[in-house]
This record gives sequence, C-alpha cells and structure tokens, in this order.
Amino acid sequence: MSKFKRIGVLTSGGDAPGMNAAVRAITRKALSEGVEVMGVIGGYSGLVNDNMIPLETGSVSNIITQGGTMLYSDRCLEFKTEEGMAKAIATCKRHGIDAIVAVGGDGTFRGATDLTLHGIPAIGVTGTIDNDITATDYTVGFDTAMNTILYTIDRLRDTCESHARCNVVEVMGRDCGQLSLMTGIASGAVAICMPEVEFDEAKALEDIKTAQAHGKRGMIVVVSEGVTTTDENGKKIPYSEVLAKKINEIGIETKFVRLAHIVRGGSPTLRDRLTATKMGVKAVELLLEGKSNLVVIENDGRIESMDILFALTVDRMYKGKLKDGDLDKFGPEDIKAMEAICEKRRLENEELYEMAGKICK
Ligand code: F6P
Repeated sequence: MSKFKRIGVLTSGGDAPGMNAAVRAITRKALSEGVEVMGVIGGYSGLVNDNMIPLETGSVSNIITQGGTMLYSDRCLEFKTEEGMAKAIATCKRHGIDAIVAVGGDGTFRGATDLTLHGIPAIGVTGTIDNDITATDYTVGFDTAMNTILYTIDRLRDTCESHARCNVVEVMGRDCGQLSLMTGIASGAVAICMPEVEFDEAKALEDIKTAQAHGKRGMIVVVSEGVTTTDENGKKIPYSEVLAKKINEIGIETKFVRLAHIVRGGSPTLRDRLTATKMGVKAVELLLEGKSNLVVIENDGRIESMDILFALTVDRMYKGKLKDGDLDKFGPEDIKAMEAICEKRRLENEELYEMAGKICK
C-alpha cells in the first residue's frame, strides 16, 4: 500500500517533444497504483499560483503523439524565492499533494531538490532537446529535435546543390553541442562548430575552398548557438553569422539560417515516446518505493536513477562551473564516479568530432 494518496506532475523549462508522453506515463502508472494525480499548469508557477487540474486516464488520451506540453511550461523566477517556495508548499498542502514528478532540464531538477528539502518529495524526469544533462546519456526530446534539424537541413542541401551555395545552419542547444555534432555528421556537413571542441576556422575555410575546387556544389556548415564571439565594440554575438560572412568572403555564396524554436516543436519520435514512458513509469515506481530527491537517467541503455545533488554537481563539474564547497558534500568514491561520467561525455564528443573531421569533406 502506497503512502501517497495524490501526486502532482509538472513540466518546466524549455518544452521538449516527449514531455506529453512522460505526463501520460506518470499519470497512468500512478492511477494504476491507486494514486491520484494533479496536473500542475505552467511548471513551478502553477505551484506558486495554485493552478492545477485533476488528471484521469482520459485526460492524457491522445497526447503521446503531440509535441509541446499539455501542462504548459514556464521558467518561474518567483519559485526560486523563499516566498515563492512557501506559496508552492502551501498549494501542495491545500490539495493534499504528497509528492511531485517534475519533467524538464537542470533548472527543473534544482526546483525538485528544493521542494524535497522543503518537505515535498520530488523526482525529476529529463525533458530537454539539448541532451545537456551530464548525468544522463539521453534526455527526452533530443531525438525528435535531431530529426527535425536533419529534415530541415536535407531541404537546405537540395537548394544549395542546385545553386552551388553553402548554408550555415545555427542550431539550439544552449552551451551544449550535442545537437550540432549529431546532426552535422548525419547531414554530411562540411564543418561542425560546437562549444566543447576548439574550432579551427582557418582549416574549415580551407576545407570548404578545397571541396569546392574538387567539384562539390552544395555545402552545409552546422554551428551551435552556444558558440559566440565579440563584435568590434566588444559585444557578444553568435559566431554562426560571422562564419557565414567569412565563407562569403572567400568567394563562396553562403546563406545563413537560424533554426531556433522550430526545433522544439513537432510530434515526438518513437525513441522519445518510449524513453519518456520508461522514465515516467520509473519515477512513479521510485516514489512508491519511498524514494525521492532523485533524477531518472539513462545509463548505457538502462533506465536508472541518481541523487539530484550528485547529478547537478557532476553537471557543474563537466561544464567547469563548480562552486566553492560543491565537492565537500561528497566522498572520494563519489568524486571518482563524477570524474568518470565527465570523462565519458568528453570522450564521446571528441571521438565523434574527430571522426566527423575525417569523413565530412
Ligand atoms: O533548453 C532548451 C532551449 O531550447 C535551448 O536550446 C535554448 O538555448 C533555450 O531553450 C531557449 O530558451 P527560450 O525558449 O526561453 O528562448
């Protein structure tokens, strides 16, 4: 018999295809275990402002195919304040919500751990197109976003080929280059530029010139939005547009496109529906086992869980953002495990980038 009578489910941060599939799985699994479910509207702001609806089996019918999130999403600043948190806890108490499953990215997990620390057990489920959560091999939404980018680039390639042009494509991903790396390889890009690997601009320009001299007509260059440079006034600007200008300057007609939010929409792929379903079910199982303050992850194909604080710390370690005292809460074994995860991520990127450099000509 579960100690939970009612849980809340929310989606927070940038939406991702597959969030609906996660909401459906969480709802149906909880209901099948005799636990009631409330859908929190608009992420953490729904907790702060007491905005929620009861979810029944039928409420989540037909959403598995839909992009976006039926619960809507938000990046709620008020939730980060003590007053906001107090309101969120009061809302949970008012509705008899014993626990929360929060679907989103690292910001969402920070919210989930704060809730747990304030007495509402919470579990995080990944939902972000960026695949930028170091703790997990995969985040729900990544596959759909990759396929949307690929579909779009394939179309750009057709017209590039007809007109013997280059097209620089800027893709989302925040500070993470996973989307550009994977789609750059799969679309046969002549160059890929991502934040994690130093970009050899001179070599890329030379490669593009050589490729054209050897008869290549259409060319694609994929650049992460997270790669930036500065203009003549020292203002930070996206590198993608600068690179497009430089390719034009070497005599190759070049167009520029920023895919931006196009990549966040659309019906989720099988991979995202399946992973969202497995992760959603796992989150409810963990709660029923009496566990909380965890994030559901994928590790070498298995759906597992990890302590949220550990997950957030390994993320900061990988991104070079560790703060003073961050590691004090962990023993040597934990720190070794974190370093191993960071190494796994670095190697994945480096090996793929090196491979791309050899075949993307
Ligand atoms: O985290 C998902 C993401 O789409 C990033 O790739 C991007 O940098 C950011 O969100 C955009 O945020 P917003 O939708 O708030 O403009």
